[in-house]
Amino acid sequence: MYSAIRSALFKLSAENAHHFTLNALNYLGFLPGFNSLLERMFSIKNKKLHRVFWGIHFPNPVGLAAGLDKNGEVFPEMSNLGFGFVEIGTVTPKGQEGNPSPRLFRIIEDEAIINRMGFNNVGVEEMIHNIKKGRKRRGGNVVLGGNIGKNKITPNEDANQDYLTCLEALYPYVDYFVVNVSSPNTPNLRALQDKEPLTELLQQLKVAMANKPRAKPILLKIAPDLNNEQLDDIIEILNSPIIDGIVATNTTISREGLSLSQEEIEKMGAGGLSGHPLTQRSTEIVRYISKHTHKPIIAVGGIMTVQDALEKFRAGASLVQLYSGFIFKGPNLIKEINQALINKCSAPNCK
Ligand SMILES: Cc1cc2nc3c(=O)[nH]c(=O)nc-3n(C[C@H](O)[C@H](O)[C@H](O)COP(=O)(O)O)c2cc1C
Repeated sequence: MYSAIRSALFKLSAENAHHFTLNALNYLGFLPGFNSLLERMFSIKNKKLHRVFWGIHFPNPVGLAAGLDKNGEVFPEMSNLGFGFVEIGTVTPKGQEGNPSPRLFRIIEDEAIINRMGFNNVGVEEMIHNIKKGRKRRGGNVVLGGNIGKNKITPNEDANQDYLTCLEALYPYVDYFVVNVSSPNTPNLRALQDKEPLTELLQQLKVAMANKPRAKPILLKIAPDLNNEQLDDIIEILNSPIIDGIVATNTTISREGLSLSQEEIEKMGAGGLSGHPLTQRSTEIVRYISKHTHKPIIAVGGIMTVQDALEKFRAGASLVQLYSGFIFKGPNLIKEINQALINKCSAPNCK
């Protein structure tokens, strides 16, 4: 069924298809019976899929990556499509339009996406309004991650305040936080991944969290373009108490693995590449980090098949997330990964 929906959606521009799908889900989600129908069709419930990290109960370890539900509009519907958790955002304190269009490109032959959306979102207050509405719908009690960022107009010297504003505002509404300093589409954002500014930022967020009635985990999302020296710095920070886990990885600025000509690649312009060309690099990062830490890793990047997901778990992932794989393969991919995990767990050597 998804192949028919996909051919229709792929006739639209990538961004129009995105808006159409989100609007349709948002509209249908309010109709009685729609969410329970989705749940019956797509959701798998099995205690072998159940995971607990940071004291949070995940009904299955396959989540929706940040950037698809940027404003927290359709997370109940995503839960009913089978995701065990949903990361909403990246949200910034104030709403912003993002970069001019065109800014989203599908590369069908390579199962890849290039985007330079630039944190287009409605801002944290409007997002909270959406979360409150969503929490009342079937599936609205899904585990929610709040992916937080800074506004484009905020200079890096003042960035920490933007992250603090989002954390303070979102604290009552989400289960865990992800600090996004790895998007390639906000000028200079990735400079915040350097050891000194990053330590300062994470320390401030931890202090803010320490004043809350109950600490919620704060994770860091990293780029796949870091070299080993930069990764070692991240690992040192990861093994300190100021951070609870890592999301690896965001999109890459590399264009390796694309079958397009140089001219076609240049025509698309700047942006982050995701999907199949990212699979291996992101798995390598997960493997490298997991050798040096016991903290949970959420692996994301180029999971297009069941095998890709299993490889991420073998590399040390605790949980996985999909974005491009969901666009190209639809909700069946979630079901197939979960089914494979159940089958694996029926084997005699299952932990
Ligand atoms: C159109 C698009 C928008 C994205 N927006 C965000 C975002 O706002 N915040 C973020 O942390 N990651 C964002 N991402 C990155 C994804 O969450 C994910 O890390 C990346 O796409 C790699 O996973 P994939 O290969 O499964 O797509 C975006 C990705 C795409 C394709």
